[in-house]
Amino acid sequence: MRLQQRADEQAGNTIFWRLLGLAGLLLAAAPGSRAQQAPALPPLAMAPAPPRPTDFLSPAFHKERRERVREQLPPHGVAVLFAAPVRNRANDVNFIYHQNPDFYYLTGYDEPNAVLLLFKEPRTVGGQVGVTEALFTQPRSAAAEQWTGRRLGSAGAKAQLQLQFAADNKDFASAGIKWADFDQILFTELPADTRDDPRDPADLHNLVATFREQSGLPANYSADRTVVYKMLKRYGVSNAKDVTAYLNNLLKDLPGLAEDPSVRAYLAARTDAERQKAISPNPPSRYDGATLGEIMDELRAVKTPEELALLRRAVRISTAGQREVMRLLRPDMGEMEVQGLHEYVYRRYGAEFQGYPSIVGGGANACILHYEANDRLRLDNDLILMDCGAEYHGYTADVTRTVPPSGTFSPAQRQIYELVLAAQDAGIAACKPGADFQAPNKAAQEVVAAGLLKLGIIKKKEEFRLYFPHGTSHYLGLDVHDRGSYGPLKAGNVITVEPGIYIPAGAPCDPKWWNIGVRIEDDILITANGYENLSAEGPRTVADIEKTMAEPSALEAWKLPELK
Ligand code: GLY
Ligand code: MN
Ligand code: MN
Repeated sequence: MRLQQRADEQAGNTIFWRLLGLAGLLLAAAPGSRAQQAPALPPLAMAPAPPRPTDFLSPAFHKERRERVREQLPPHGVAVLFAAPVRNRANDVNFIYHQNPDFYYLTGYDEPNAVLLLFKEPRTVGGQVGVTEALFTQPRSAAAEQWTGRRLGSAGAKAQLQLQFAADNKDFASAGIKWADFDQILFTELPADTRDDPRDPADLHNLVATFREQSGLPANYSADRTVVYKMLKRYGVSNAKDVTAYLNNLLKDLPGLAEDPSVRAYLAARTDAERQKAISPNPPSRYDGATLGEIMDELRAVKTPEELALLRRAVRISTAGQREVMRLLRPDMGEMEVQGLHEYVYRRYGAEFQGYPSIVGGGANACILHYEANDRLRLDNDLILMDCGAEYHGYTADVTRTVPPSGTFSPAQRQIYELVLAAQDAGIAACKPGADFQAPNKAAQEVVAAGLLKLGIIKKKEEFRLYFPHGTSHYLGLDVHDRGSYGPLKAGNVITVEPGIYIPAGAPCDPKWWNIGVRIEDDILITANGYENLSAEGPRTVADIEKTMAEPSALEAWKLPELK
């Protein structure tokens, strides 16, 4: 790897910055220069941090969640979770760091190069007896913190995150963990896209390598296996034909997978009973990349009150963005400006980021489901689809509104819009505890199919898929497509209901429908008796949208001059 491609883990600086620093040093050292007598700076790391928000998930929340995982571990089991890798954007610039949501959920730790172990029975770690949870973190470093920001360090993690045991990551390899004593070693995806920093002997790359080596994980165990196990468990019996075809195809790229006992047994199975046995071997395999994911699916899908407070905040901020943009929108605006307005509102209300790249597409671009370019210059009066979600302290909203930039729907736009709205109403009405996860989807599909037939856009019912090619729902939380079992709905689930109709130019229907793309997406909390629409503050009916668009905006006067 080229040296410039990495942020310097130790000092956070790069060749470019080092050269700048060197130039400064040479100047400062020139005879007679005043800088020569300048006192040394105290390490930033030691200075008190200015105030920051305090409404994050509490250490007690994370601790309780860890206990819930431990309860479900098998006897003599251990769960191993890794922090997310730092991902490179280009040259020496990385993407903004985003923690592995499972890791965040169980720790609150928001830095890279860390590993968490949860033990079913108390163990001895780093000489400390009776340890049930151990976090290894990146160390504090005055130099690194001057360049890239504060670190919690192991002492900080232990005190502030209330971990029973925490140590620096460099001590993971020598912590004396007796891996041979575990009957089962559970993990989720092993990070596969780590980069080894040769100057940091305990970065994520090394932590994963240490785990592989000390736990005796078979050398050909790839991260893909976790995905395969998940697929086998979820669909291996109900949809054996497709899964078998998929697996056989995968084996061409991953021949090592053929040696996996579960995969081998599954492919050799001739009956569903044999397939079931292959998927759930008895005794279970020692290295288990599937079960921990299932535990996390169940836990994360049911939101606690603390999580709901943050999720509600994220959704409210997102609907505030939708409302403000509706008031500001004009046909001469471009998609990027509209995106910027949403994201400004997010920051204004303390949401650190967006939970996924904002989708802001007008007309033809509204027909691209996960459109990200957002570079159309003038919207004119093509419907603009705005699928935008604020992320507040880790929790993301996912709200879509589709509106006419002029403030008034044309007759054709209105007909499609009202059809999607009726489909969404039907989908939302199907949300209640005990309902099949697909119930909202099925209800919305029925309405869309009947409506498209009635408008003459399709000739046969099943052709609705042409214009409504996705499902309506996914779980929502720390991930926009959050963890969950996709089983029956439960109180505490938060799911989206998001039907859409997308009719690109050239579609086999009357051209008056072309370039109309509509999605309406709301965030629905399943309650004890039914549901609550968390995003109800985002205008949704034609009347409410047109009324909101006629209102003045608080940002109206905030007109930036042209850049000549
Ligand atoms: N924003 C992505 C989705 O709606 O699933
Ligand atoms: Mn969604
Ligand atoms: Mn969305």
